[in-house]
Amino acid sequence: MEMVLTTALIFQKKSQPDLLKGSILASCFFEPSTRTRLSFESAMHRLGGSVIGFSDASTTSIKKGESLFDSMKVIGSYADILVIRHPQEGSAEIAARAASPPVLNAGDGAHQHPTQTLIDLFTIQESQGTIENLHIALAGDLKYGRTIHSLSLALSQYPVRLYFVSSENLSLPLEIIHELREKGIEFSIHEKLEEVISQVDILYMTRPQKERFAHSCNNFSENCLLKKSHLAKAKKNLRILHPLPRLKEIEESIDETPFANYFQQAANAIPVRMALLALFLKEKVPH
Ligand code: CP
Repeated sequence: MEMVLTTALIFQKKSQPDLLKGSILASCFFEPSTRTRLSFESAMHRLGGSVIGFSDASTTSIKKGESLFDSMKVIGSYADILVIRHPQEGSAEIAARAASPPVLNAGDGAHQHPTQTLIDLFTIQESQGTIENLHIALAGDLKYGRTIHSLSLALSQYPVRLYFVSSENLSLPLEIIHELREKGIEFSIHEKLEEVISQVDILYMTRPQKERFAHSCNNFSENCLLKKSHLAKAKKNLRILHPLPRLKEIEESIDETPFANYFQQAANAIPVRMALLALFLKEKVPH
């Protein structure tokens, strides 16, 4: 993780337009995406590489019944690195078994979104100067939010204090709670944002992942909607993150406050994904 964050800093200062000249990225998106797909593709172009791929699986031979394994095996013979987003948990692992080149998980169902986590860590470090000893709240859809799962596990590598805020029906999966306990991370569970806002340095908001809800009765709690009035008691250094897209969980008037850091977070996808591509495809990234 540290190597990606350090390399991303290099690319944030200066692009290297010929570094990946001749390399091909296969961008395989079986689920909708704005940030992840376009930032990966932009990062590859900015490093001089080329991109093949699809953003609509119904235009591929999956539509004719080809398996994910076979598709990824073949695409692996056309590219030097693959990025896959898929609605099925464990799909990236299947792709990694099938394809010879490296496969990057760009989100597999409600499971994980590890490259988003690297962007989140980079943004936390950029805004606070460190990740260590921060008080960090993760709020919203903790059950289906794959960015929450990946970020919680990554943060468990650091000495941090965590606060989880959600309604009971969208609470953090037990396996992640067990992992945090095993790592000795101090955390608490809440139902209202107001209970934690004055205590935290980072507030990580997420939307309800309605596309993964088994029942439409899984309503998002009013207690997890952030209003500008909530910020009256916030610490000065509080920064609000959100992997986006945003629905109603952050009031738009917050965008203009110094607390809002989510659009900067989205922009940080470029240097972080440049770092990932370069580290996988080059033995050495020049400073
Ligand atoms: N953060 C994120 O994964 O956004 P997209 O769904 O637009 O890629």
